[in-house]
Amino acid sequence: MNAKIVLLPGDGIGPEVIREAEAVLRHIATKFGHTFTFSSHMIGGCAIDATGSALPDETLAACREADAVLLGAVGGPKWDDPKAKTRPEAGLLKIRKELGLYANLRPITTFDCLLDSSPLKRNIIEGTDILFFRELTGGLYFGKSGLEQNADGSETAYSTMTYSTHEIERIVRMAAQAAMKRRKKLTMVDKANVLEASRLWRRVSERVVKTEFPELAYDVVLVDSMAMHLISRPATFDVVVTENMFGDILTDEGSMLPGSLGLLPSASLGEPGPGLYEPIHGSAPDIAGKGLANPLATILAAAMLLRHSLNLSEEAAAIEAAVTSVLNSGHRTKDIAQKGQTSISTTEMGQLVLKAL
Ligand code: IPM
Ligand code: MN
Repeated sequence: MNAKIVLLPGDGIGPEVIREAEAVLRHIATKFGHTFTFSSHMIGGCAIDATGSALPDETLAACREADAVLLGAVGGPKWDDPKAKTRPEAGLLKIRKELGLYANLRPITTFDCLLDSSPLKRNIIEGTDILFFRELTGGLYFGKSGLEQNADGSETAYSTMTYSTHEIERIVRMAAQAAMKRRKKLTMVDKANVLEASRLWRRVSERVVKTEFPELAYDVVLVDSMAMHLISRPATFDVVVTENMFGDILTDEGSMLPGSLGLLPSASLGEPGPGLYEPIHGSAPDIAGKGLANPLATILAAAMLLRHSLNLSEEAAAIEAAVTSVLNSGHRTKDIAQKGQTSISTTEMGQLVLKAL
């Protein structure tokens, strides 16, 4: 097949990990007889420096034309000034909104050979295989917000969590469909004991599940208790669906289950059009340019890209198997190396995955 893939390396370790993932995609194209055309564009801090905008029009236009987008990471201390006109993160939020990417899929799976790299005990995380659906274009991130000056010289700021029936329905439906293909269990996380927006989530979600997916085992959990259950009984969850900010926080927490943020990919999907794939980790400015970054999350994001946007599940599975086999052979980047274990560089890890393929 022919596919146009846009690469958005971004900032920090973004370019290093994208380089390895691109090599893996090129290898897959050759091996399976596909033609992938790559083009690279700016997003985030580097785009602010070059154009003044965190998401230049040219980048957005290229993404709209593409079959799929693979992103590294954005941000860094250089652009952290709270008084700055624009921030790298604005580019990420804008691309999500503009491409209508309302569903962020974050799988949290553990690798058997890494069970001892997790800060949690082996017997707790063993068997964990969760698929998070984080709502990505609504809630506090996009609701009405503002900053007002008070008469006494102090300030009042507000951000509102806003959701419509339609926004809840479509993501719950997508999560439920995924659960039907897995272990048929769906958990919806909210804060309905306090928030009006959560009470709408609860009503809409229950209706969608009960009327359209009666076979699903369905439960609702409050977000504070979910934070606890996620580390006390992670293996009991299958698909979890939740609003934007709860999902942001819970998936960072969940990323510690497999032992490192450096292993987890994510996919942002939505309206017809390209999906956006990225590692769940950030730009890690402290290790940028040192060859220390773990490219596996981005390589696994490339596998998700093949599966979800190009419908190439055999190719995706080949990448995932290659990653597992490299880890099984004991190779570790610094983030997942145990005390005393030697670690390899970003490029060495990428090369090993290519060899395994
Ligand atoms: C993420 C990140 C982003 C978010 C930031 C960088 C805006 O933390 O993708 O989880 O909060 O959504
Ligand atoms: Mn986050």
